[in-house]
Parts: sequence; C-alpha cells; structure tokens
Amino acid sequence: MTTPAPLTERPAWAALRAHHAEVGGRHLRELFADDPDRGTRLTLEAAGIYLDYSKNRITDETLRLLLQLAEESGLRERIDAMFAGEKINTTEDRAVLHVALRAPSGTRITVDGVDVVPAVHEVLGRMAEFAERIRSGRWIGHTGKPIRTIVNIGIGGSDLGPVMAYEALRHYSHRDLTFRFVSNVDGTDFAEATRDLDPAETLFIVSSKTFTTLETMTNAQTARDWLLDALGDRSAVAKHFAAVSTNADAVSEFGIDVMNMFGFWDWVGGRYSMDSAIGLSTMIAIGPDAFGELLAGFHELDEHFRTAPFEANLPVLLGLLTVWYADFFDAQTQAVLPYDQYLKRFPAYLQQLTMESNGKHVTLAGETVDYATGPVYWGEPGTNGQHSFYQLIHQGTLLIPVDFLGFAQSLNPLGEHHDLLTANVFAQGEALAFGKTAEQVRDEGTDADLVPHRVFEGNRPSNTLLLDRLTPHALGTLVALYEHSVFTQGTIWSVNSFDQWGVELGKVLAKKVAGELSAADDPDLAHDSSTNALITRYRAARRS
Ligand code: F6P
Repeated sequence: MTTPAPLTERPAWAALRAHHAEVGGRHLRELFADDPDRGTRLTLEAAGIYLDYSKNRITDETLRLLLQLAEESGLRERIDAMFAGEKINTTEDRAVLHVALRAPSGTRITVDGVDVVPAVHEVLGRMAEFAERIRSGRWIGHTGKPIRTIVNIGIGGSDLGPVMAYEALRHYSHRDLTFRFVSNVDGTDFAEATRDLDPAETLFIVSSKTFTTLETMTNAQTARDWLLDALGDRSAVAKHFAAVSTNADAVSEFGIDVMNMFGFWDWVGGRYSMDSAIGLSTMIAIGPDAFGELLAGFHELDEHFRTAPFEANLPVLLGLLTVWYADFFDAQTQAVLPYDQYLKRFPAYLQQLTMESNGKHVTLAGETVDYATGPVYWGEPGTNGQHSFYQLIHQGTLLIPVDFLGFAQSLNPLGEHHDLLTANVFAQGEALAFGKTAEQVRDEGTDADLVPHRVFEGNRPSNTLLLDRLTPHALGTLVALYEHSVFTQGTIWSVNSFDQWGVELGKVLAKKVAGELSAADDPDLAHDSSTNALITRYRAARRS
C-alpha cells in the first residue's frame, strides 16, 4: 500500500486551512439564504438512511477539498485493502474483516489465502440451532426446567454490542425470555443482575474474545459458584454455560463444554464484533431470521461504503465532517442524539467504537501527530437530553457538532407521542443552526437587560439522519455507518483504528495493586506517594 504524505503536508490540508480562514466564520443563516435549495441539495440517501447534512458549516468548496483530502489520504486504496483481507492492523499484524461477518454465503474473502466466509456461516448456523433450542424451550437445564433467563457476561465489545442491540431490538425480542448483562467487576453488577433469578432456569453466556479479561473471568467464576451453590453438581455447568471466544483452550479449561462454544477470529476487533458470535444473546432474543436481517443491513451499508463514489458515500461524508470540525474548528466532542428510546445505549456503544479506535496520538508510522485525532463521542436519547445538557450546546462556548437520529414511524404508536418526539428533532436542528438574533428577541418585547441572555447565536452544526423505522436491518445499517465513518477518519489521520494499546497500562498496574490490596501483611509499596497513600488508607479502612 502506498503511504500518503504526512497529513499536514497533503495539498488539500493546506488548502482547507486557507479555506477555513475564509469561510469558517460564515453563518448558516447566510449559507441558507444564498442557496434556497441547500436543504434538499446537501442530502444523501442510501441503504434506507436519509442524511441531511445541509446544516453544516460548509460550502461546496469545503466538500470538494475534503473529498480531495480523502483521495490524497489513500482512502480508496485502504478501503479496498480492508475488504481484500490485507493486514491493515499493522501493530497487531491482523486483517480487519468485520465486513466478512455479514458477507452473504458464497462471497469470497480471504485471509492468508483462506476463504473465511464458509467458517462465518458455519458458526452462524450453529448459533441459530442453539438459539432456536433456547427460544422454543427445548434446551432443558440441569433440573429439567427450560431456560428462561440469559445472562451475557462480557465487557467492552463483548458487552456493549450485545446490550445495545438487545435494547435497540427489544421490540422484536422473545418476551418470555429475560436478558441481563453483567460487565463490571464491581460485584454489585452481578448481584443485582442475578438476585431474582432461578439458577435452574438461567443460562450464562461468557463472551470474551481472549477469555482472559479480568472482569469477565471474575464474573464468570462468580456465576459458576452461584450456579453450583444452588444446583450442587459440577455437571450442571454444561447445561447452564455457553461461551463465545477465539480461545478454545481457555474455554474448555474453564469447564464449558466445547459443544456450547461459538468461535470467532482474530480479524474481528472486540468493538467490531456485535455481529459475530458475540451476538449470540442478540440472536436468542430476536431469533435467527431477524439476526439475518441485521446482518443484511450491515452488508448493504458495507457495499455502499465499498462502491459508492466518495461524494455520494454516507460514511465517507460523515467521517470527513468529523475531521473538518475536529481539526479546523477545534471541536473536541461530537454528540450523537438518538430520538428513539430503544437506542438509549447507542451512544455508549459508539463511545467504544469511536474512541477506542481513533483515540490515538501516533501515526501508523509511529510519528507523534501534530493535529487533533478522535473526538469524544457522547449522547443521550432525545428528548431527555434537551432538559439536561442542550443548554450548553445552544448557548455555551464550545462548538459541539451533533448527529440527530430519528425515525419516521414509531414502534409504539401512542397518540401524538411520535409527532411530538420528531417535532423536537427537527426543531432542535433548526434552533441550533439559525438561533435567534438580538433583534428578534427585542421584537418580542423582551426587557433590554434580558436580551443578551435570550439570544441564540446559532451557527451550531448538525446532521439529521432520518430512517423509516427501527428494524434489525436499520440497526445494522446505522452501526456499519459509524464503523466506516471511524475508518474514514482514521485513514485521514493516518492512525491505526484497530489496536487499543492504551488500555494495557492500567490493566497491568491494576493487577499489581490488587495483590497489594489483598496481601496479608502490609506490603512494601513502591508507587508514587499518592497511590501509596490511597492503598494504605484503603487497607486500613477495609479492615475497620
Ligand atoms: O478494553 C480493551 C478490550 O480489549 C476491548 O477492546 C475489548 O472489547 C474488551 O477489552 C473485552 O475483551 P475480551 O472480549 O477479550 O474479553
């Protein structure tokens, strides 16, 4: 693969700097006034997603330059390399092939000369059989009772995808089954998730790519103790535990029957794994057919990303806009505000996807960057956020680009609720972009001393993504949209979006500190004075 010039030396970068100095201050009011068609012209539709990006602080020239930057950054070549199974995760020497997880049977995608698609479908087939046995009540627990509750134990990508997808697709879920998710090593998480459960009717799915993660293995051992305390017999584990992992040896060492193990591969990153076997709880909840629709949604967006010209490519455009605000407007955060209660965990899911991917400060070549990379992603479902933090987005001093997500149809049509909900999506975008001038405030008869407080500057950018209905297919398209937007951003910034070395140091230190916290005698502490004092105080307070 050809290595692009360092980002700040690419011609489009310098052109964007100069262009930003020229147009960065222009107001959206002006941009809309100058172009009556802007609200229909700066839109894109693909894979069932309608994107209105007209309320961004861009001109046609901005778009042209951003697209040029994508070309100069080698985006086309890198997309092709990912889909071809090349080892673009260079620091871990791995291919990056979450797109193979949703490739239809018969597609050929090779890693080291081996077509991986048949293995993907073999696992999907086994998952479907397992899921159907649970859903139909044919999977009988150790005491003869059918399984009624599924508890997914995992963390990071082995939790956030499953819990987000379960919540998002709850409307389609098997309502006689209960789903719980345990992730935190805080015992409270396990205790509260299981306190009202009957072990004889509970199935644990231990989800861990590595099967070594401290939190997950601690929770899995606690789950095994909880089960065996109630059911007595070690053989009960076979009926009440399944595992999802790439590490078959560790799974069987734990005592889980390999018949109940569902594998995936090192070319699936944890934060890109919700559509692998890590989605087993999702498949049990919504059934194999609906899971197939979810995969079809992912795939449709993958194909769009792979084939659409950049100017008509949803994830490319979203990714470039994020770069535009992060690097030229110094926007440090990006809000994602879903106007759908079922998407309440979507922002949390996106936080790992985006920040573990692009929270990097060195390039693929190991050089320290001299520009901003991944912003903080955050959000809450609307309209709740409106009564919480929107004040700052409207009138604070930070520029916060926003993605609004909305649906034309509600899954729970109740009276006027959905029109009211959607009215808020559109109203917020309008208010952020156009604001309210001092003149307008004065014309409303506002006291002079209150005028500055009631002025909305506007010019606060947003995208509006409008879909017809939250279906499994739609969820697949949305997740793939952000996955590929992250890919686009990472390519522009020349970072490796697929490793996560930044989580290592804390893990190693925690292991050391854990030994010191539980040591029988006061240990010799050789940390900094702050950490030493905290350990000492904890040990004393814990004993008192
Ligand atoms: O947080 C680091 C990380 O490695 C994530 O990338 C991953 O999703 C999570 O831990 C869980 O890892 P595993 O699935 O191996 O337990």
